[in-house]
Amino acid sequence: MIYILDTADLAAIRHCNEFYPLAGVTTNPSIIARENTDFWTLVEQIRAIIGEDKMLHVQTTQTTAEKIVEEAKLLKERLTGEFYVKIPIGEEGLKATMELKKLGIGVTMTAIFTPTQALMAAMAGASFVAPYVNRLDNIIGDGTRVVAEIVNQLEMYGSDCKVLAASFKNAEQVHLCASYGCHSVTVTADILKLLISHPMTDAAIAGFEKDWKAVYADKTILDF
Ligand code: E4P
Repeated sequence: MIYILDTADLAAIRHCNEFYPLAGVTTNPSIIARENTDFWTLVEQIRAIIGEDKMLHVQTTQTTAEKIVEEAKLLKERLTGEFYVKIPIGEEGLKATMELKKLGIGVTMTAIFTPTQALMAAMAGASFVAPYVNRLDNIIGDGTRVVAEIVNQLEMYGSDCKVLAASFKNAEQVHLCASYGCHSVTVTADILKLLISHPMTDAAIAGFEKDWKAVYADKTILDF
């Protein structure tokens, strides 16, 4: 499983990059706008925190193939390293994806809600497709089932495009995606924490500490 952080909050990125096996960061225009600061300063700071080897996915703000390609080239040039341009699915986006494929710029096709959209994006040359799990669940669209169908179809057609499931509101959605063989997920820092949390784990750790201290007080193994 490839874990990616879905935020532009620098403190959250610093923290999660240090404590979790993160493969990179994804953003979208809403996420960037939430920070309400200079665009280039923000994304370059994200790149500086995660380094050149980790993936940085930044979404285009353009709507025509020509302008999407122009923006993607500029983003790639300034953000360097493992960079992917996020492009919403649509005719202009597909055309841009086919051109960017020839230029060697990775594309994450986003705003995916159906397997038919995902398959088309993969055939156009997208490196990742990003289905929105929770937004589908919100309308009884069964987001994780859609992810499972996309995973199966990409495998059936021998595509090397990866599924980057997005839009999560709980750990169960992430767990089901993992069970269905989804290649990667992009989640918030809160969801990342939920994935490793369990009250029985807390109780077990408290029990170990209590039993140890009852005999050895504050001494640790390093003090023996
Ligand atoms: C990522 O590609 C998506 O833009 C993001 O995960 C959407 O999440 P949301 O539905 O919580 O806004």
